[in-house]
Amino acid sequence: MPAYLDHNASTAIDPRVLEAMLPYLSGPYGNPSSLHRYGRLARDAVERARAQVAALAGAQPGELIWTSGGTEANNLALKGLCQGAASGRLLYGATEHPAVMEAAESLRAEGWPVEVIAVDDQGRIDGAAFRGQLVTGPLRLVSLMRANNETGVIHDLAPWATEIHAVSGWLHVDATQAAGKLPLDMSALGADLLTLSSHKIYGPKGVGALLVRAEVELHPQLHGGAQEKGLRGGTENLPAIVGFGAAAELAQQELEARIRHQQVLRERLDAGLRALPGTRLFGEGVPRLSNTSQFALEGWDGEALLMHLDRRGYAVSSGSACASGSGEPSHVLLAMGVEPMLAKGAVRVSLGKDSQAAEVDGLLRALDELRLRGSAA
Ligand SMILES: Cc1ncc(COP(=O)(O)O)c(C=O)c1O
Repeated sequence: MPAYLDHNASTAIDPRVLEAMLPYLSGPYGNPSSLHRYGRLARDAVERARAQVAALAGAQPGELIWTSGGTEANNLALKGLCQGAASGRLLYGATEHPAVMEAAESLRAEGWPVEVIAVDDQGRIDGAAFRGQLVTGPLRLVSLMRANNETGVIHDLAPWATEIHAVSGWLHVDATQAAGKLPLDMSALGADLLTLSSHKIYGPKGVGALLVRAEVELHPQLHGGAQEKGLRGGTENLPAIVGFGAAAELAQQELEARIRHQQVLRERLDAGLRALPGTRLFGEGVPRLSNTSQFALEGWDGEALLMHLDRRGYAVSSGSACASGSGEPSHVLLAMGVEPMLAKGAVRVSLGKDSQAAEVDGLLRALDELRLRGSAA
């Protein structure tokens, strides 16, 4: 199998997470809502995991709503806060994940006033323009990611939270990529709602969470069950929730070690990329996640490069996983003012806690060989 260098797309389940999950696949099968002993065993496991995941974000267990992942959490945050509310604008960042962008655009189609927050050529929020937008009329919600899934660019959100709250807006933070890669504290960030996803932190796929401050009133998107205080009906996915809890606890315990390990490898990768003629590294001048580098190799189409790398034993991504196969240039890079042709050439490498220096060196060698052979290779 190729060396896996696509951890922002998804991660392998940690063996310790699998071990925590297995008893809940073969054992306690009661419904967490049932009052008998089977139900109570299941409920105890759900609540243990709730405390573990909430702790990863410095939140209270009572602030957590289980979802099927980051996509659902983002949809619940945006639609749940706007639908049923009287008025106010929704602002979102130009480099947000499609799960925020498209949820916001669906609200626009329903008549909700929606505005996009521009970024500069490094992918940072355009402060002057955003400050102006904050005060041009009633504000309902601002949705900004803590770290970008493609470039890894980190947004310093705490100062913005103060300004958003000063004009009576709420702040939703998509922390899907930040979790397990940056220290996360909902209060310090000033976030009122915060999205997490299990499969980016070595937990199972198909489970995530939205953390919601007690003062925030949400409109449920799923009806027909009293689970999660009526905000997200449906019987809980017990083994996945248990796995998410275990993964969150490990992510918190091992955070510093994971950052240190990935940072060393990422610097090795970036140094190698800078030495390759015709390579452009995106978001190079600003703080980025310790594991992520996005770049383009002159004359290469990103997807063609990805396929050649796959054949040579390296699994990378040509931008966000959702955009892969679409042939469209990355909206993130276009928002940063990158020319469409160059943006179409983008490749993302995202390292993981178990990545090795030999994998980075091998990838750099493969890139150099492909560069020398040219894009017709
Ligand atoms: C920033 C960000 N938000 C949301 C999501 C969606 O998460 P999920 O795959 O759990 O639905 C992703 C996944 O790539 C992401 O990177």
